[in-house]
Amino acid sequence: MFDRIWMNGKTVIITGASGGMGKGIAEKLIKEHGCRVIGIARSEEKMKKVVEELGSYSENFSYQLFDVSKEENWVKFVDYLKQNDIKPDVLINNAGILPKFDRFQNYSIEYIENAMNINFYSAVYSIHALLPLLLESPTPAIINIDSSAALMTLAGTSVYSASKAALKSLSEALREELRGKCYVGIVCPGFTKTDIFRNQEAADDKGQKYLNMVSTSCERMVKMIMNDIRSKKPLGVHGFDAAFMNYFGRLMPVQGGRLFSAVMKMSKLPMFDPIFKD
Ligand SMILES: NC(=O)c1ccc[n+]([C@@H]2O[C@H](COP(=O)([O-])OP(=O)(O)OC[C@H]3O[C@@H](n4cnc5c(N)ncnc54)[C@H](OP(=O)(O)O)[C@@H]3O)[C@@H](O)[C@H]2O)c1
Repeated sequence: MFDRIWMNGKTVIITGASGGMGKGIAEKLIKEHGCRVIGIARSEEKMKKVVEELGSYSENFSYQLFDVSKEENWVKFVDYLKQNDIKPDVLINNAGILPKFDRFQNYSIEYIENAMNINFYSAVYSIHALLPLLLESPTPAIINIDSSAALMTLAGTSVYSASKAALKSLSEALREELRGKCYVGIVCPGFTKTDIFRNQEAADDKGQKYLNMVSTSCERMVKMIMNDIRSKKPLGVHGFDAAFMNYFGRLMPVQGGRLFSAVMKMSKLPMFDPIFKD
């Protein structure tokens, strides 16, 4: 039986803690494991709401507001930790964005670079800057919240999938390089009900219904992610859509891609229009 409470009382840094899954994970770490959590995101308004919702638990939560996609912000953050004698045990790279579903050539280079910087380079910078400090902990851990998009690439998700595939590769190399020294976990959630779809043209009822139908609730996804972390699982694949993508991505990546395109076309959802309409 694994040790289910290895992370009790740890100091955890989590990006994207102002909303969605990051907020849910932060709350569980504090309430169920007595962790001290430092949340990172950009919106103070959203962070204040997190503090308010935590109530008396908020004494174990603090936040830093910065853009995770800029290396200099991580360097400053490490200085802040050192100056305040804060010794982190766990880093959870969760902040991310979902670019609008579209054909590759319709994205500007600036848009692509921005998505890669937030979804991939943020983890490069955070791990590079924080690893020496993490390794001073008796139980160092890095958990990267990846995506089912890293398991199989669909039309319309070139940039998102590339960013998440890069994160998966980085995590897999780290898992081996740090074996025995630091737990490295990868989580690949499927569609989850959060605000991440704000950029998609799915505001119409049909699109919303479709997303709701295929999405796992945020609460349920957070529970599954917490189980992964508790058991130090190397790779978690969660949600039925993620299970499908894992299967097709491994066993029939070419035909699988065509099958998913056919399903997306048949759905006639406006959010997929830019991908398939000529
Ligand atoms: N929801 C899904 O269906 C799904 C599926 C698979 C994987 N994922 C992955 O799961 C992770 C969490 O997604 P979610 O659905 O919880 O998203 P979400 O509800 O949109 O929350 C994203 C969080 O990231 C923060 N963030 C975004 N860009 C940032 C930046 N440049 N600097 C600092 N913080 C930033 C946001 O805070 P601020 O706005 O305050 O900066 C927010 O706290 C992401 O990596 C996502 O790719 C999501």
